[in-house]
Amino acid sequence: MKNIVLTGMMGSGKTTCGRRLAAILGREFVDADAWIVEKAGMSIPEIFASRGEPAFRDLETQAARELGRRQGLVIATGGGMVLRQENVEALKANGVILFLDRPAGEIYDSTAMDGRPLAQGGRQAFLETFARRESRYRESADRTIRNFSSVEATLDEMLAALRQMEDVL
Ligand code: S3P
Repeated sequence: MKNIVLTGMMGSGKTTCGRRLAAILGREFVDADAWIVEKAGMSIPEIFASRGEPAFRDLETQAARELGRRQGLVIATGGGMVLRQENVEALKANGVILFLDRPAGEIYDSTAMDGRPLAQGGRQAFLETFARRESRYRESADRTIRNFSSVEATLDEMLAALRQMEDVL
């Protein structure tokens, strides 16, 4: 059974929606960031501070490879997962990607950014990060999910998109 992989910016709802989607579908939910934290034995801010972003990205690639080999999961990825093409390929080998496309300004204004080292530069920097990444999110996705009026409505959109795809549900 294929994995369902959620991508998008920090705070776009990947973990919240992913957990709910997994419960609805009776699947196991895995958060790639939580996998990394367990593997490294330290928090994400600690990994960035003590080992640097490249080391974090290498752990993220390991997560993509290992989770991409499993079956039937709902996987929430960190916002930078799509930056390396090899991660996208590993996750797509046995999975479909849904990009949670929530406006970056709305995310910044409504989300606590503690614990997210790459969101500490202020609103403008956050918008610029999204602008730099936007094409990666769009190009790597099998489907883009845009409804953020509520978690329920977003889940409905996700389920509708998944039903249109072959061999996923
Ligand atoms: C990152 C997003 C974070 C986490 C790390 C880097 C990014 O995950 O992986 O802080 O580069 O966008 P969330 O998207 O779950 O916040």
